[in-house]
Amino acid sequence: MQKQLNVSAIKDGTVIDHIPTKVLFKVIQILKLEDFPNTITFGNNLDSKVLGKKAIIKIANRYFEDEEVNKIALVAPNAKLNTIRNYEVVEKRVVKIPEEIVGIVRCFNPKCITNAENIPTRFQIINEKSIEMKCHYCEKITNENEIRIK
Ligand code: CTP
Ligand code: ZN
Repeated sequence: MQKQLNVSAIKDGTVIDHIPTKVLFKVIQILKLEDFPNTITFGNNLDSKVLGKKAIIKIANRYFEDEEVNKIALVAPNAKLNTIRNYEVVEKRVVKIPEEIVGIVRCFNPKCITNAENIPTRFQIINEKSIEMKCHYCEKITNENEIRIK
């Protein structure tokens, strides 16, 4: 008998697939999933043909607007959003890095005003490939490896 251990299919909702394993918990933070009342299941270090290993998040009965979810492209640029209705995948979307990022990521500069006072950070994306974002307040660059969620 073949044993199977997997994240169960959902009836209705959103499946976020192809998340790099190292950023699963950052994606959870960025989407503020801890505030959701929905049933949420996730898996990490699952086999993936493309990534080797991957993470996946399934959110029941919740659908996302592009701007809500595009923020995750900062850490999971190849994530795919699957809309599920009555067990069927009815739509697949890719995420796109927004031009401006407001209030998610900390500024890398410890002296930045956003690290001293309770004001939302604001960055302009200046390089989409290897992510570089310029702070609106101190103009310092925060890069991909330095991303910490606020
Ligand atoms: N899925 C789910 N519940 C469903 C239908 C699909 O959780 N009722 C999940 C699948 O497990 C998969 C993802 O949604 O992780 C996308 O489903 P599908 O398009 O069928 O899989 P693939 O063709 O492998 O997707 P990809 O586009 O990534 O190749
Ligand atoms: Zn700054």
